[in-house]
Amino acid sequence: MTLRKQIDEAVAYIRKHTKIRPEVGVILGTGLGGLVKEIRKEMVIDYDEIPHFPISTVESHHGKLIFGTLAGKKIVAMQGRFHYYEGYTMQQVTFPVRVMSDKVGLGVKTLLISNAAGGMNKIFRRGDLMLITDHINLQGDNPLIGPNDDELGPRFPDMSEPYDRRLLSLANKIARELKIKIKHGVFVAVQGPNLETRAEYRFLRNIGADAVGMSTVPENIVANHMGMRVLGISIITDECFPETLKPVSVEEIIKVANKAEPKLTRIMKELVKRL
Ligand code: HPA
Repeated sequence: MTLRKQIDEAVAYIRKHTKIRPEVGVILGTGLGGLVKEIRKEMVIDYDEIPHFPISTVESHHGKLIFGTLAGKKIVAMQGRFHYYEGYTMQQVTFPVRVMSDKVGLGVKTLLISNAAGGMNKIFRRGDLMLITDHINLQGDNPLIGPNDDELGPRFPDMSEPYDRRLLSLANKIARELKIKIKHGVFVAVQGPNLETRAEYRFLRNIGADAVGMSTVPENIVANHMGMRVLGISIITDECFPETLKPVSVEEIIKVANKAEPKLTRIMKELVKRL
């Protein structure tokens, strides 16, 4: 079955179950589900009900599409995302973005993505927020590999501005108004699932990355392919300085993400309001 047919079937199923036509989409990262509580929910659909949707395997992720309103805007939120390290293909990881899109899907023009990331920039501290200004794809794979469906997007999409400049400046302004300190930087996506060695952190810093994580880039590539505008925010959950690296567990990463999460939620909510 073609990708387009799979998207059409998933969209048809969702449309049968909710009248909401979301204009904003949200993908929430590890330990960052708090925004979901702020959504006035109208419909919740489990991933495993939706045709062709992958099913999430990581315990800290829930696996639901949440439809409702946030700050007066119609929204769809993914509670739980798919990671490449779980064994999904890049096409599976990004399938929900295709389904959300305004081009052939539910109507989303603006996609907000959050993630937990390791900080490599020396001025970053645990619990900081970082607006993603640009990215480096080091996952060794790409969701656009294979035949291109020109109705979904171009064969060779431009990536000169993968994170929308207007959204970035709006998020910046909002952070200032809310007196929330926010950093900026380049995000690099790696495969995982292991965290990096000191030598790898040194390498990633040297090639120009400020934060490292295992998600976001595939979703961003597909969103750009389909002409959506994207805002990406990382929560820096651990300090990845090769000189002083200490062991870190996923429990600690989630704890830091949970603690910093309210700042992220406040910014995202205000941003949605002003879209
Ligand atoms: N690498 C290192 N630290 C992290 C990551 C990562 O991919 N994600 C969250 N903290």
